[in-house]
Parts: sequence; C-alpha cells; structure tokens
Amino acid sequence: MPHTLKHVLPVTARVNDAAHLEIGGCDTTELAATFGTPLYVFCEETFRTRARELRGAFPDASLYFAAKSCPSLAVLQVAAAEGLGIDVASAGELHVALAAGVPPQRLILHGNNKADADIVRAVEAGIGRIALDNFDDVDRVAAAAAHAGRRQAVLLRVTPGVQAHTHTYIQTGQEDSKFGLSIEAGLAMVAAERADAHDSLELVGVHAHIGSNIFSYDPFGKTVEILFDFLADAEKVLGLTFSEVNLGGGIGIPYVAGDFPVRLDLLAKLVGETAQQEAARHAMVVPRLAFEPGRFLVGNAMVTLYSVGVVKEIPGVRTYVSVDGGMSDNIRPALYQAQYTALLANKARHEPSRTVTVAGMHCESGDVLVRDVGLPASVRRGDVLVVPATGAYGYSMASNYNLQPRPAVVLVRDGTAHPIVRRETHDDLLRLENPLP
Ligand code: LLP
Repeated sequence: MPHTLKHVLPVTARVNDAAHLEIGGCDTTELAATFGTPLYVFCEETFRTRARELRGAFPDASLYFAAKSCPSLAVLQVAAAEGLGIDVASAGELHVALAAGVPPQRLILHGNNKADADIVRAVEAGIGRIALDNFDDVDRVAAAAAHAGRRQAVLLRVTPGVQAHTHTYIQTGQEDSKFGLSIEAGLAMVAAERADAHDSLELVGVHAHIGSNIFSYDPFGKTVEILFDFLADAEKVLGLTFSEVNLGGGIGIPYVAGDFPVRLDLLAKLVGETAQQEAARHAMVVPRLAFEPGRFLVGNAMVTLYSVGVVKEIPGVRTYVSVDGGMSDNIRPALYQAQYTALLANKARHEPSRTVTVAGMHCESGDVLVRDVGLPASVRRGDVLVVPATGAYGYSMASNYNLQPRPAVVLVRDGTAHPIVRRETHDDLLRLENPLP
C-alpha cells in the first residue's frame, strides 16, 4: 500500500502477511470473495476516531452527524453511541434515525421544501430542533406544534452571503441559494420576528451551512462574524436573544494522496476565538456552538471494493481498467468531477507503475471513477480494486442505473465483518414493478 495513501484510507488499514489490504482486521480480498463486489466496507473504528477528534476539538458544542452522507441504520447507531445527534434532511432520514433508536430530542430536521406531513411527523416524534428555511416553514411548524400541544425548538436557517471555495453544486452559503433566509436582504430578520410571534415556537438560534468539502478555515470564521452581527441586530431590533449558533457541516477530507486533512485544532481555534471576540464586541453571552458534519465523520471510514474485469489498452491513448460498479455506487466523479484514487487489495505491495483510468460498467462515457491513476503494471481481470474515501455520499447517492443492484455494506471491526446493508438482488429490482394490466 503506497504510504502516501495512509491518510485517505481508514485508520485500521494495513498490509497483512499475505500482502493484501486489511481493514478493521479483515482481509479485503476475503471480504470481496465472501460478500461479492462491488462492496462498501465501513470501518467502525475510523468513524469513532473522527467522532472523538471532533468532540476533542469542540468539547462544549452540540455535535450532529449529517445522515444524508451515509444514512445506514447501523452507521447512525454508531454515531449515536458516540454521543452525536443526527441531522436529518427528509422524513426518510427521520424514519431511519428513529428506527436506529436515536432519541428524538437529539435530531434536527432540515429541508428547503419540507412536506406538511413530514413537519407533523417530526413535531409529533418530539424532534429536538427544526431548521426554519423559509416563511412557509415558520407558519407550518408553528401550526403543527400548536396542534400537537408542543413548543417546538427551532433554528433560523440563514444565508450568510459567504462563498466557500468548493464545487458550485455544493456551495450553499451564497446569496443566490435555494436554501435559507438571506441576512443581507432582510428576510432573516423578518422571519425571526414572525417566528417569535408564535407561542408554539421557541426560537433558540440560527443555522448556516456554507458548503461542503471546504479546506480553508476563513469561511467558517467569516460566517461566525456575520451570524453574530445578525444576533446582535436581532437583539437590538427585536429584543431577541439566541442561545445557539449552528455552523452546519462542510469540513473537507482527503480523497487523493495530495489532499491534506483539515486541522480540527486550527478550525476550533479560529471559530472559538472569533466567537469570543465577536461576543465581546457585541457585549453578548457566547451562544452554544453546534456542528453537523457528514463527510468528515464517514468519508474516510469507507472504501469500495470492485472486481477488475476488462483491461483495454488503446495504444498511445489510454488503458481502461473496467470494474463491476461505477456511477451507480459512486456518482461523485460524474457529478462533481470529484477526484479519487485506487489501489489493488490483492497486490498491496506492488509498485503503482502503470497509469490507467478506472471505468465503471455503465452505458455512459462519463462513467469513469478515477482518471489517470497509478496501479501495478500486472493489473488484470480478477484483481480486487479498492477506491478509498467513498463513505460520504457514495452509498447515499447510489442508484439502480442500468438496473444495477445496489451493493452491500459490511461493517468491519476487530477482524469480524458484519453485513449492515444486504446487496440488492435482481428480484429486488422488480419489487415495485407491476406488469402491464
Ligand atoms: N448540514 C447541512 C444543512 C447540509 O446541507 C449538509 C450537506 C451537511 C450538514 C453536511 O455536510 P458535509 O459535512 O457532509 O459536507 N452530495 C454532495 C454533498 C452535498 C452536501 C449537502 N449538504 C457531495 O457528494 O459532495
């Protein structure tokens, strides 16, 4: 295993005596043989390590795991066991989080277009927080809470006008966004006043999520400044005090050898110092901070195993190494030009001496998982190819394109593999279908 990939792989990754890649004490070539490929392999210890790093960096903050990044029941259970709350973005995610046994009080519901029924379901479940994304939300959540005889704790989701340097599809903090209420245009203040007027709402704080896979620290500091300015204004104009500031998710992770991990200590220092300084400047009590990362917690905790099939060399052009999955289990390269790397599990000590392109099996030229990656020159049919860092938004954005059954997920821990999501079968592909009447 090239040592340059250590920080991209799960913390338990090592090369065993058979010269195979091992994760969570399990030989990945054996996992491939036992459970088939493509296969998502989830390393519980990596998730727990990241959760503890996060807690260590932000000891006093409320911490949530963004379920959308990997909403598997067992993964949510690991998150909850680490003391994390869960951020749910739909009634489906709410359903799974509740099924995972997460106390409703530790859930937060998001969404720019929440269905009435979903709001009712969340309120009736006793959800801890609902992020109000727009004026409709203010009134609909208030009505649902009044009907349930509850006082619902809510946050205002605001757009702070901060542009994070990431792919435009995953930027969310800028003014022109379908998410949240603009501070700049005054919508957030109007919504705060409107929410405060409802007895059934308890307006506890504000929320901003500026984007995803962010490697710089400044946008977070800038967001704190803008949010605290808003809190100070709300106090001045409306006499409201807020006790919570949720900074969303967005912490970047390494995907390829050249990527560096975000330093949580630096992020915590910047955010903490900015919060102290801004609170002092506005003579207010420092509100409790909250974070809800997905990718940071689960991204490097998972790898995908594939079987190599056709190796096609186009002389002078490129060598395609085709695998038995692709955009149906990892849409990110096609959707965001996301970069990944690859290695061979069964040739973990071989030098990566040949540059190839790893392609999927789908009927699309854009179905390329990794362009120009170094693999051992001996790469051939039957090798087990590993793509690291697929934990976030791989399984959760998987599809049945070309009626490819979605892969299984196995959790590995201390040398044992536990299937936590079973592989779909061809019959599963027919389960919603009705024949022509
Ligand atoms: N909180 C809110 C309100 C969010 O909208 C998101 C992500 C998160 C937290 C978690 O963000 P994270 O820490 O995972 O960056 N499918 C895209 C990412 C979309 C993120 C959407 N919201 C991707 O594969 O890169």
